[in-house]
Amino acid sequence: MASSLVNKNIIVINTIDKIRKQVKTLKSNNKTIGLVPTMGALHDGHASLIKKAAQECDEVVVSIFVNPTQFGLNEDLDKYPRQLKHDIEICKVNGASLIFAPSDKEIYPENKHLTYVVPSKYYQNKLCGLTRQGHFNGVATIVLKLFNIITPDQAFFGLKDAQQLIIIKKMCQDLNVPVKILECPIIRDTDGLALSSRNAYLTESGRFKATTVNKFLFKIKELYNSGLQNKEEILKIALKQLDATVKLEYLEFLSLESFSEIDLLEKNTLIAVAANVDNVRLIDNIVI
Ligand code: PAJ
Repeated sequence: MASSLVNKNIIVINTIDKIRKQVKTLKSNNKTIGLVPTMGALHDGHASLIKKAAQECDEVVVSIFVNPTQFGLNEDLDKYPRQLKHDIEICKVNGASLIFAPSDKEIYPENKHLTYVVPSKYYQNKLCGLTRQGHFNGVATIVLKLFNIITPDQAFFGLKDAQQLIIIKKMCQDLNVPVKILECPIIRDTDGLALSSRNAYLTESGRFKATTVNKFLFKIKELYNSGLQNKEEILKIALKQLDATVKLEYLEFLSLESFSEIDLLEKNTLIAVAANVDNVRLIDNIVI
């Protein structure tokens, strides 16, 4: 593959040297840089991050890299969708000017004895961290690498992956990383299902079952808004929304600020679920 190809006014770059040079030129012209880190297979959720970045910053870099170090042995690294042509189009129409799409070798040339960023166990041993051992070490490591390569002023992350967002914010705080982290709301399909590249694995009936997860979350919000606060009382009613075949991997009520467990719901409570729907693992959450 050519190391860089020009697609009208968007440039796709595959090497660290070249992206550094491009960013240097932009910065010498006093342009602010927004970064949207992704693993590709872009949908309207990613598009909303790119749009927001284009509103906030002069130039937007989208990174597209299916990061092997955040996938466990039994996870879907090999079958993770790769569709660069489609992704370039989405980046272009939503206002990005550069795409950084490196190879595995470019990012992990040695691929042994790697140095990892290890987020605090307090933030890891909850939600997705419980079953996806080492996942957030891989996420934090690649994100810091991308920050060091691209040196953005701001970086944009979706609340869809709330734990990831919180861990990255904490990493920047603890390691004095000079990047402002901006959070973007979850984008949903018309049936309420949170957009995710994994939705493509669902059959029609699987998709219907999956929408009961968002119905369940919205019911919790509705019950809270109607005056209920007790988690157990709320769950007793809300769980009726959930299709009987949907297996919950976790369901947690956490304070967004302290990340500690909550029994009495209040403002800024994160209610997060991971569900197995016909063997497809989906995550979703709401914040009240
Ligand atoms: P990926 O799953 O491609 O997601 C990239 C970004 O898009 C994340 O910040 C994610 O929260 C956001 N996103 C995904 N679906 C969304 C939706 N429905 N609404 C709003 N935002 C959504 O997350 C990763 O990649 C990787 O872990 C990464 C941070 C790139 C590190 O490899």
